[in-house]
Amino acid sequence: MSENKPVPVAVAKVSPSAERPLREVPGKTLKVALLGCGTVGSQVARLLTEEADELAIRSGARLEVAGIAVRRLAHPRPGIDPSLLTTDAMALATRPDIDIVVEVIGGIQPTHSLLLAAMRAGKSVVTANKALLAEHGEQIHDVSHRYEADLYYEAAVAGAIPILRPLRESLAGDTVHRVMGIVNGTTNFILDRMDSSGADFSESLEEAQELGYAEPDPTADVEGFDAASKAAILAGLAFHTKVTASDVYREGITEVTAADIASAKTLGRIVKLLAICERSGASGPEAGVSVRVHPAMIPRTHPLAAVGGAYNAVFVEAKSAGQLMFYGAGAGGTPTASAVLGDIVAVARNRLAGTRGPEVSTHAGLPVRPMGDTLTRYHVSLDVADKPGVLAPVAEAFARHGVSIQAVRQTSRGEDALLVIVTHEARDADLAATVSELEALPVVRAVASVMRVEGEGDQ
Ligand code: NDP
Ligand code: HSE
Repeated sequence: MSENKPVPVAVAKVSPSAERPLREVPGKTLKVALLGCGTVGSQVARLLTEEADELAIRSGARLEVAGIAVRRLAHPRPGIDPSLLTTDAMALATRPDIDIVVEVIGGIQPTHSLLLAAMRAGKSVVTANKALLAEHGEQIHDVSHRYEADLYYEAAVAGAIPILRPLRESLAGDTVHRVMGIVNGTTNFILDRMDSSGADFSESLEEAQELGYAEPDPTADVEGFDAASKAAILAGLAFHTKVTASDVYREGITEVTAADIASAKTLGRIVKLLAICERSGASGPEAGVSVRVHPAMIPRTHPLAAVGGAYNAVFVEAKSAGQLMFYGAGAGGTPTASAVLGDIVAVARNRLAGTRGPEVSTHAGLPVRPMGDTLTRYHVSLDVADKPGVLAPVAEAFARHGVSIQAVRQTSRGEDALLVIVTHEARDADLAATVSELEALPVVRAVASVMRVEGEGDQ
């Protein structure tokens, strides 16, 4: 803890009848190093200043921003004292007087080195960095354990939504079976626009970019990398096991067409980019987890179907708690800063009490099952000739791979027809093999679209 000069105690409000003040601003100070002052960091800095008295009362110490690391010193930053700025993030993160290091730079380097150095120097660490945690989480947690340093990262998944602490603490006495979420606001905005306006992917992406939801380079969001990092963190916490971003099966939304969206609508479904973390096999050698990110059709009555715009939501299913739903703003400077501030207050309280927050546990050591073993359902649209003898070879292709058909719907279009087949649950590898065989059938002009179907039994 930093040296504390005597500070006059300010009394904000005193109960007229109580013997002691109800809201006493503490005289102690904890010094905060803010690494990054962009979309999230600037809002963390603002809230630390504007809410200083309230945060001091809640945490038990004044939270003083003692330095801010940035890349561009000359960049205008309204409300920020320029004397706090530095480009030497490492010197700031390891400065002896610093108690809490808040990393909101993002990316793998230099943040990886910065977090490790901060924890080794005895700092409590708060980060919003999903990419780093999903790639190097094991080592970062190991250093946090060895150096007894607090490590909190609520903002790393689903922005403002409290979901990591509920998994880590509130559900610590339960067994989580499944976590299924919309954890990327950009792609949810795009899919929502496609659903409401009938626009195609590129038009909806352009609109998302114009409105500032999507980055000029949208790859991380639309190809599912961002959601895959979040899925890895969620699965690790939910199933007490080690999961990295490379364990996560990933498909983005760039191949989703206006026709997919329209077909989903006709069947009472909606297309969402889902992060799905599931426990598979009850116990023994069959036990494992499957972690995947891909677009899927879900019933329009599913709790996640109503999540529109850039909002996020996470649906959790646990043995005793049953179904839980967490909903809110998954991004944005101020909402994300709320989660960062919550973590800062938590680590400040722990530091003052001489304790630490609960560590993550990977004791279950469950293997991550390959995508091919995952049980899924498919929605397959085929362009076929509208003539006798078409259905039989199509049905045989499904049967040959042990995939059971749940529903078939045909729409005639002159000499052609659109055949939509929805399957029962089957191994993903068997479904994929069926689709390959369909593509080669002479009666099939084209496999128009293939999409997984999820969440049928959830309502
Ligand atoms: P920004 O790009 O807006 O801000 C990054 C900040 O880091 C900038 O202030 C930049 O400096 C600074 N920076 C970059 N490199 C260095 C360096 N080498 N040394 C010191 N400072 C550096 O990012 P965001 O605020 O959007 O994101 C921050 C983190 O929060 C990321 O991990 C992100 O994934 C996470 N997050 C973001 C959300 C959002 O809605 N934006 C939502 C949830 C999580 P300068 O200002 O000079 O360029
Ligand atoms: N780019 C992310 C999203 C926000 O669109 O949800 C940061 O996690």
